[in-house]
Amino acid sequence: MPVPREEFLGSTWRDGIFNDKVLFCTGGAGTICSGQTRAFVALGGNACIIGRNVEKTERMAKDIATARPGAKVIGIGAVDVRDPKALQDAADRCAKELGGIDFCIAGAAGNFLAPMAQLSSNAFKSVMDIDALGSYNTARATLPYLVESASKHKNTGKAYPTGTGGRIIFVSATFHYTGKPLQAHVSAAKAAVDQICFATSIEFGPLGVTSNVITPGPIANTEGMERLAKSDEHTLKRSKMGIPSGRWGEVKEIADATVYLFSEAGSYVNGHALVVDGGQWRVAGGD
Ligand code: HXC
Repeated sequence: MPVPREEFLGSTWRDGIFNDKVLFCTGGAGTICSGQTRAFVALGGNACIIGRNVEKTERMAKDIATARPGAKVIGIGAVDVRDPKALQDAADRCAKELGGIDFCIAGAAGNFLAPMAQLSSNAFKSVMDIDALGSYNTARATLPYLVESASKHKNTGKAYPTGTGGRIIFVSATFHYTGKPLQAHVSAAKAAVDQICFATSIEFGPLGVTSNVITPGPIANTEGMERLAKSDEHTLKRSKMGIPSGRWGEVKEIADATVYLFSEAGSYVNGHALVVDGGQWRVAGGD
């Protein structure tokens, strides 16, 4: 039976696709995750962003709320994703104030460039704790809400769900696909993040939840790239030469991938790592 035209029209970038839905996003005051949240809000949703810095998080929440008239965006600062109780309290507050949690982005990360010879055990552990344990804590705090959201549109009488909700995206990296100097700690942590995502997809898929990874490559105007830009010209030039698409990405391109995975169009994508890097990692691990 062919799919009628109207079922394709607007299954992704239609105004209002996230009406009455709620996103919980850790790292939401950062450049990439705020861009993802902004897209979600612009397309009808409300959101709660979590950060460590109160002022920065609240300021960003106000800014994201301007994406759509009437949008509700809460910024909860002073929450460290390494603290499961603080994170659970934030998730519960989000659900209480906004009416549930339908989507989650586990995006909080702590990164720096450091040769292994200068990486203390505590430095390694700090990044493992923020990226890996923090992503796990985020999933634990939100999954009961995501299951509830998924249950609302699971049995619609069609072969596939016609609503959306009950979805989680983990923000990862490509470093561990190949190996990356100065990033032993981040590579180890992001490998763990990927596996937390995949385990979630298998264990919670039967409950209607989808769990995927988005892997940004070098994205312009982000903290990570600003640090790279501060290094020498040679490194900077090579960083663009190593990208088959010939340029750094834009925050909007990560936001677009997010909208796809959260939309009806992404309903059968589960346990996938979507690399959005202009093909960089395919070229000898990128640079
Ligand atoms: C070596 C370092 C270091 C550095 C910190 N440490 N910076 N070691 N080189 N540049 C060590 C410290 O000496 C300490 O070890 C341990 O790490 C913990 O440091 P704290 O400052 O006490 O920890 P904490 O406050 O928890 O900070 C976490 C952090 C920090 C990860 C270390 O960088 C941070 O808070 N970052 C948050 C923002 C962030 O990184 N965003 C990046 C996202 S960009 P000792 O042994 O002295 O106790 C991105 C793209 C990737 O993700 C781009 C790659 C650059």
